[in-house]
This record gives sequence, structure tokens and C-alpha cells, in this order.
Amino acid sequence: MKKYRFEYFASCPYGLEELLSQEIMALGAKSTQVVRGGVQFESFHEIALKIILHTRLASRVFKYLYQFECLHEKDYYLEATEIKWKSLMAVNQTFRIHTIFGDLPFEREDFRNSQFATLKLKDAIVDYFRHFEGERPSIDKDFPEVVFLARIERGTDKPYKVTLMYDLCGDALNQRGYRISKTEAPVKENVVAGILKLTKWNPSEEGLLDAMCGSGTFPIEAALIAGDIPVSYLRVERHLSGRGHKMWTFLNYPWFNEDKFLVENFNKSVEEVVQMTTAGLEKLKNMKNKIEGSDLSEAVLLSTRDNIRKARLEGIVEIKRKDALETTPNAPKTLFICNPPYGERLEHGEDEKLRALYKGLGDHWKHNFKGHRAAIFTGNLEMLKVVGLKTSKKHMLYNGDIDCRVAEYQLY
Ligand SMILES: C[S@@+](CC[C@H](N)C(=O)[O-])C[C@H]1O[C@@H](n2cnc3c(N)ncnc32)[C@H](O)[C@@H]1O
Repeated sequence: MKKYRFEYFASCPYGLEELLSQEIMALGAKSTQVVRGGVQFESFHEIALKIILHTRLASRVFKYLYQFECLHEKDYYLEATEIKWKSLMAVNQTFRIHTIFGDLPFEREDFRNSQFATLKLKDAIVDYFRHFEGERPSIDKDFPEVVFLARIERGTDKPYKVTLMYDLCGDALNQRGYRISKTEAPVKENVVAGILKLTKWNPSEEGLLDAMCGSGTFPIEAALIAGDIPVSYLRVERHLSGRGHKMWTFLNYPWFNEDKFLVENFNKSVEEVVQMTTAGLEKLKNMKNKIEGSDLSEAVLLSTRDNIRKARLEGIVEIKRKDALETTPNAPKTLFICNPPYGERLEHGEDEKLRALYKGLGDHWKHNFKGHRAAIFTGNLEMLKVVGLKTSKKHMLYNGDIDCRVAEYQLY
């Protein structure tokens, strides 16, 4: 059985892996390796925790624990009971397991589904504690104190390879905490931050306008980038207030709590986030270029305003009710960014309406945004053709399971 030290995995939406690798290196990791859907990295523990506080792009960060190979599900159970579970969690802590499959030997059916594999690992943990401590830990599906990820894939010496990890985050890191009011089809916060990076939006050179802003994710993430505010700032606030469950699951782990240096260092990193937030909010008050969101729907804008208030960006991000096709540039150079409806539910007449909207955007930009830039994020690849303008760049990016594109336009 292989035991890791200093090795982590940060997951992210497909399409952001290269950018995430750069972000992780800039935050101080020693080395990275890009894989589909994430980045493996080597770093000191304190740097890994700093990455959790500062990453805009990662969905979660995991710490590798063990790797072993097994013949079939019974062997999986036996191998798993060999792990010294009491060094990973206490018997009075609640836990949850996620199982994911990589490429599997297709001719075998030992692991019938992820629920079944999860059950085997749960049995191994429970039986281990019963044997050594005389009692068993409980499962908590909603607010577990300890979360394990088991990845099962094709092995080298035996049919299956299992990689066991700690989920250091609990709630996904894209859940920043400002989206308190729901709107339809919001894009994940880290996908939005990734789009702003992919399009190389530079707040000191360009204003930003999201003319179909929905819940306000684009303007909010843009303001956080412009102010250099770590996206963990609201979680840090809750962490310091001591309200609710722990903001990151690693705070429950013996691995963290038994290392005084790590705890001290994390507390310093938290303090740094507070200082950067105060400085960032101040900096945003004097920002030269505007960050603006608008939407056609007044009902949607009620939610947008709630979210902006929660993000503490009132008076910084401007919100207006407007048809996207009646907007004007808000700075000498503006990035018009938008995520129009995809038309997931193609009701009668919807297709025609969408076509008119996408074509309308192309025409609007041609006539009213000369010298500026535009970008569309959409899962409707057909509609991109309807825009009728030449793209200057295109990026593949997934929003959940949806294969999307970011299409960029330089408008002359
Ligand atoms: C897919 S949602 C945007 C989601 C947003 N990016 C988020 O993260 O919450 C599309 C938005 O476009 C708005 N919309 C549709 N047609 C519009 C138009 N002609 N002008 C302005 N907004 C429009 C809808 O009200 C909706 O809020």
C-alpha cells in the first residue's frame, strides 16, 4: 500500500485545468500535473491550505492518503480494513464517502455501481472501529465532519486501483456564499472566474458589462478580481464568527489539528484574507472602469441585488434593468460579456426567439460597440453561428455536464 505525503488534487470544471495549474503554481506549489478535470500538485501543507483560501478556479481540493490495488470487491473490503482509520478520524466523528470511477476493466462487474463500492468501504471503516475501539462512527450525508473520496480505476498488477483521499473542503469552493437568492440557470462561480481569466479581462484597462446578468455572477466575480479580494472572504467571515458548521472539513481532521505549526499558519492566512478584503473593498471605491450588470427581468434583478448586497459590493457593481440590445459601452474600452439563455427547453417558437436574440447581439455589437470586445458563454453551439461575427478566439469549457464554448469577438 502506497502512502502519500505532500500530494494534493484540485478539481475544476473541464477546460480550466491549465489556468488552475498556473494559479496553483503562483500560490506557491512546488510542482503541478494537469489531468482531465483537475490538477495534481505537490506542496507544503500550509501552501495547500492557502490555495484553498485563494483559488478562484478550483471546485475542491483533496489530499491523497493511500493507494492500493485489489482483485474484486471482497478484496477491496479486506485491503481497506488494513488502513489505520483512527489516524484519519475519531470514532465520535461523522463521515461520508464519495466514490468515483475512472477507466474500469469493462469485462468485470465486481463494482456494480458507486453506491455499492461506497457501502463496501463504509463497512471496512465501521468494522475497523468496532474491532479496535468497540464502537462505530456514524454516517452524516448532510454535514459530515470527515469526507473521503475513493477513486476506483483499472489497476496495473490487479484489476482495480483504488486511490483514497481526504476532501479538504466539504462544501464546494465555488459556493462562495453570496448567491443567497436563486435565479434560473446560474453559472458556477468558478466557471465565471475562469471565463474572465480566459478572456484576459483586465480591470485597469477595460470596463465590464454583463447585459444578461441573472444572479450577478459575472459582475461579482469581476469585482472580486479587480479588488484582488480572495473569494473565500465570506466563508472566512463565517469561520471567524463561529456560526454554523465548520467552513472547511479539514478543520475537523487529526491531520490538521495535531500539527500546531499548520494551525498557526492557517490562522495567519485567515487574517491575511481579512486584510486583503478590507483593502480590496477600499480599492474598488476608486476604480476607474465600471463593472455593470443588467437584465431584462425585474424579478431576476431583485435576486441580483440581494446577491450583490451579500457580496458587500453595493455601490461598486452597478445594476440596471435594460434590454441587452439597448446597452451602450460603459468605459473607453468595455468587455461586453454575456451568458444568454441556451434554450434548454425548446418550446414552440423558442428556437426563433433565440435566433433573434443571438443575431441581435451580433448586429448590436457591430453598430454600437466598435473598438470594444465581446464574449458569449453558451451551451448552444448552433446559436453561436447565428451571431454572424468572426470570433477572435474560442475556448471549450464545461458548465456542469454541458459542453459549452466561450466565443470572443474583437469588434472593429
Ligand atoms: C442564462 S441566464 C444568465 C445567468 C447568469 N450568467 C448567472 O450566472 O446567473 C440568462 C439571463 O438573460 C436574461 N435575458 C434574456 N433575454 C434578455 C434580453 N434581451 N436582455 C437582457 N436580458 C435578457 C434572462 O432574464 C436571464 O436572467
